[in-house]
Amino acid sequence: MRPRSGTYVAKGITFQREKEQPHPVFPAVVSNISKDVIDFRAANPAMDHFPRKIWGRLTKEVCNDTPEVAFAYSGSEGVKKLREVLSQYLMKIRGVRCHADQIIITSGATQALYMISRLITNRNDQFIAVEDPVTDEMRRIFSLAGAEVHPVPADEEGIIPESLPLHRKPSFLFVIPSHQFPLGGTLSIQRRVKLMEYSRKMDTYIVEDDYDSEFTYEGVPVHSIQGLNPERVLYVGTFSKILSPALRIGYAVLPPNLVDSFRELKWYTDRHTSSLEQLVLARFIEEGFLDRHVRQMKKIYKKRREALTASIRDHFPSAKILGQSAGMHLVVEFPGVVFSEEVKELLCETGVLVYPVEDYALTKGAHQHKIVLGYGSLTEKRIVEGVKRLSEGLQKYT
Ligand SMILES: Cc1ncc(COP(=O)(O)O)c(C=O)c1O
Repeated sequence: MRPRSGTYVAKGITFQREKEQPHPVFPAVVSNISKDVIDFRAANPAMDHFPRKIWGRLTKEVCNDTPEVAFAYSGSEGVKKLREVLSQYLMKIRGVRCHADQIIITSGATQALYMISRLITNRNDQFIAVEDPVTDEMRRIFSLAGAEVHPVPADEEGIIPESLPLHRKPSFLFVIPSHQFPLGGTLSIQRRVKLMEYSRKMDTYIVEDDYDSEFTYEGVPVHSIQGLNPERVLYVGTFSKILSPALRIGYAVLPPNLVDSFRELKWYTDRHTSSLEQLVLARFIEEGFLDRHVRQMKKIYKKRREALTASIRDHFPSAKILGQSAGMHLVVEFPGVVFSEEVKELLCETGVLVYPVEDYALTKGAHQHKIVLGYGSLTEKRIVEGVKRLSEGLQKYT
């Protein structure tokens, strides 16, 4: 090519573009339902009471005083300070017996449960025994990890130990003993002991999900089942309900023999959960703000719960309220009403969303007259209005 002879296009730099596909549109996560519809979904805590000021102050402090090394990659098990603080907190509040090294910080209970399923259910002839009814999220997590899900019926007092499978050993048994979701029962000591005997006899693990156990309103809070046998129980907790799901901080407390493989899997999954958020949380707990927050939230949820139970009694004298002694949801049984898709739609048109227990049931038929009402994220005014709409809607149905 001669100098100054013009501009040429070099060979080998053109290529045929693939036909572009339309970009995916994700469904709105928050809600695409009209703002005026009152949604009794049991998912979110009281977002209007997140301790924004303190959290903001602690975040600033962590940013200013933490050594540089905290801004680098860290161990997949999570920040040591948080695990230490957490092991003491869990012992005090939930009777969980563990060393800080048995705790792995995860992105919520969801990640902990998925990883546990992947680790323990490692042969495809295995299955997980799961209390029935159960949330569809849990069912999906177990199935995605490749496990077959075996339903074990639960009643108002939690899982029924006499119905546990004896013909085959499950890779683990999944339970929510402090406040079963959705039925709301707290597992009795007698049933807890039977679960322990079962896990020993079948040589299997128990996975205990303790996601909203801090909020107990009646009686003495029952400690975790992990404390009864730390060798056999994998304890899973989260800060999604006690603080906010936006933090994405949960944890698994593991028997020592499972710690290394869990840490390795966590590393491959996402290296580690955000260290800076963990440091803020560690300070939040250490400086007593978590205890204070729980005390305040308990008062708020208690009032919301009372507003809900009182309006249910006003509008539906023959309805039975179940599972209201803890957590942020309860169950109502309406004799003679079957909560079909048609009834759900009719209620939605009346401006209220409710969640039939039957939708969570693996074995269908036993819970047709019951609905779950989550009250954690609704103000008392909205709760009262929601029950009024429920009553108007059901009048149209009958
Ligand atoms: C049964 C159960 N456990 C735990 C959680 C918390 O999940 P995460 O910690 O991932 O937010 C939920 C969320 O709704 C749940 O339904």
